[in-house]
Amino acid sequence: MSASPATRTTARPAAAVRTGEPTGTDAAYAVQFSGLGRTFAPSPGSRRRTRAATTTSVEVARPVLRDVSISVQPGEVLAILGTSGCGKSTLLRIAGGLDSPSAGSVRIDGSPVTDFDTRCAVGFQEPRLLPWRTVADNVALGLPRGTAREAGRARVAELLELVGLSAFADHRPASISGGMAQRASLARALARNPGVLLLDEPFGALDALTRLKMQDLLLDVHAAAPTTVLLVTHDVDEALQLADRIILLGQEAAPSGGSRPPGATIVQEITVPGTRPRDRGSAELAELRGRLLAGLGIDRHGDPRGVATGTSIPHFPY
Ligand SMILES: Nc1ncnc2c1ncn2[C@@H]1O[C@H](COP(=O)(O)OP(=O)(O)O)[C@@H](O)[C@H]1O
Ligand SMILES: [Mg+2]
Repeated sequence: MSASPATRTTARPAAAVRTGEPTGTDAAYAVQFSGLGRTFAPSPGSRRRTRAATTTSVEVARPVLRDVSISVQPGEVLAILGTSGCGKSTLLRIAGGLDSPSAGSVRIDGSPVTDFDTRCAVGFQEPRLLPWRTVADNVALGLPRGTAREAGRARVAELLELVGLSAFADHRPASISGGMAQRASLARALARNPGVLLLDEPFGALDALTRLKMQDLLLDVHAAAPTTVLLVTHDVDEALQLADRIILLGQEAAPSGGSRPPGATIVQEITVPGTRPRDRGSAELAELRGRLLAGLGIDRHGDPRGVATGTSIPHFPY
């Protein structure tokens, strides 16, 4: 996967075209966030005392995201980093139409996302496989509605091969490893040829070695079907290894004498140099790693500023 997003083709794997899915997309799509904000309405119990009247309280709406604007190119891999609770999953859910913005908009291939968007497929931290179905049948769940039986079978076989699970097609989820289950989950997400793949910490629950293997697999998958990927991760190295660009969500510094506006926005945007697979030990990446870790409130030498390097990222300070 060496082409830049601008030059990369959006061709699908030959076999995917051959099976001729009735729906699903056949292209990688641009995703455009414009001035996007999300404020959650007060929930029962979310009360805060007002300064003026300490004996009464008001329910407060909570701005989580504000003014997020970025254009993701077709076929680009964008990694989204940020402290826990800063709104990464919320941004991803809005991109897929699983939640609605309070301000601004998100467009896929130029058209607004209004409802659950079938041009997207979503992958989560947990594989979410149905335990009573075989691996192959779980992958088949991702096929577009109306896929003919033979075409579906061929597509599932192709995807199982892509993720290295052909020999486990008839196994149930309980008899495969966590890494394998996550590969099956990825295959299910790919089954509909998504124009945009939304991955929310997809490897976060895996051990370190399996995670590295899954990163390589994602590179292979993307090379075979260069869809647009929005990848939420808490792993700075994973972002540097997989992404064309990385955005860091966080709170902007307060202007001098003023208070900072509530809600997270893009506080860093980094274009990752070099072609993939990248040299994990390169000095260039080390510099970027330091910059991103500093942005996350972690000292580059692992000197804890409240948290130590290698532990989970701190919580967003509301
Ligand atoms: N449906 C919701 N209603 C109210 N608050 C929510 C809802 N979804 C998310 N939040 C809040 O928004 C904040 C950001 O959540 P999330 O996007 O899951 O963060 P992240 O993925 O970065 O850890 C959290 O404080 C969370 O509690
Ligand atoms: Mg999340």
